[in-house]
Amino acid sequence: MTRIGHGGDVYAAARELGRDLHQLLDFSASINPLGPSPAALRTMRAAEVLLSHYPDPACWALRQSLARHWHRPAEEFLVGNGSTELIHLLPRTLAIRHLLLIGPTFSEYAEAMTRAGGQVTMLMADRANGYRLRLELVLAALQKRRRPASGASPIDAVLLCNPNSPTGRACDAGAVRTLARLVARRGLWCIVDESFAEYADHASILSEPLPPRTVVLRSFTKFYGLPGLRAGYAVAKPGVIAQIATQQPPWSVNMLAQQTALAALQDARHAGRSLRFMERERARVQKALTRLPGCTVFPSAVNFLLMELPVGQKATAVVAVLRRQGLLIRDCSQVPGLNGRSVRIAVRSRADNDRLLRALSSLLCEGGA
Ligand SMILES: Cc1ncc(COP(=O)(O)O)c(C=O)c1O
Repeated sequence: MTRIGHGGDVYAAARELGRDLHQLLDFSASINPLGPSPAALRTMRAAEVLLSHYPDPACWALRQSLARHWHRPAEEFLVGNGSTELIHLLPRTLAIRHLLLIGPTFSEYAEAMTRAGGQVTMLMADRANGYRLRLELVLAALQKRRRPASGASPIDAVLLCNPNSPTGRACDAGAVRTLARLVARRGLWCIVDESFAEYADHASILSEPLPPRTVVLRSFTKFYGLPGLRAGYAVAKPGVIAQIATQQPPWSVNMLAQQTALAALQDARHAGRSLRFMERERARVQKALTRLPGCTVFPSAVNFLLMELPVGQKATAVVAVLRRQGLLIRDCSQVPGLNGRSVRIAVRSRADNDRLLRALSSLLCEGGA
């Protein structure tokens, strides 16, 4: 039941390799290598007494805390069971039939559209530009596709992942805001997935009021280091939030998740430490990967790097060899818009990164995959 397009299935890898989970190093999911805030973990342990009650279906305390954090009303927030739950709610609740998606990108958006019986058109960022997102092309595409081919529904939403996964590229907030305003003016929805935006503050549009038909998604998985907890949130005008909430199952965010996420959000020291570490370590890993013969490493604003293996190597084969050594990296060869040599590597601790660099070096310098 492994789905193409996701990293982080350490359970399947452990079963397949006959190893303990903790013997694996997972570079395939991009999670803060410093782990969750220690204060958040203490809060989680203290919250176990709440397990004898149903969770707060309104996620009241967490939404109040988000409101203070972002200086906007609590009615502009909806908390979900990870941002994935919200991604799947959007097509149905906003009646999106035809999504313009800017790729190469995370697979779940297209998956959600397909499940809801909708259609996806992809606009690909160019490899020659290092997969830099050029938002002017989105507007040109909308102009061109105003009149859909017979039988097709007109595009009614645009989705941008910013910073983008798996390319690591980020657009400045100003450009995204311009896009969102123009998209709203045409009566379309603009969805911006900011699941990695804690690493790239300049990219987030949350510091100012949002245009009317804009939905921003955020996650406690990546920067807050809590993938197993399942917490994420949507930000939009209160009417839009109320509309999305109508289809959310009750109690989808448990109380450990609500309380831990709240404490994580408030730990500014851990956040600062995490950002400083990533800035240094990403630069170091990027430099080391670039030195591997024939490898191309793309610029990244976040906690992972997109890399192309040397010509003649296949991502699938290299990923499989590393996997047998307990090193999981993300095979991106099936991501539409990327080539068969593309892999994504999360930046982990210095020692873990050195282990992967040594393995890659011996694989690529001494023997084929
Ligand atoms: C870009 C992006 N958005 C959203 C998600 C979903 O994150 P979660 O459901 O854990 O919040 C992921 C997970 O890999 C992702 O890469």
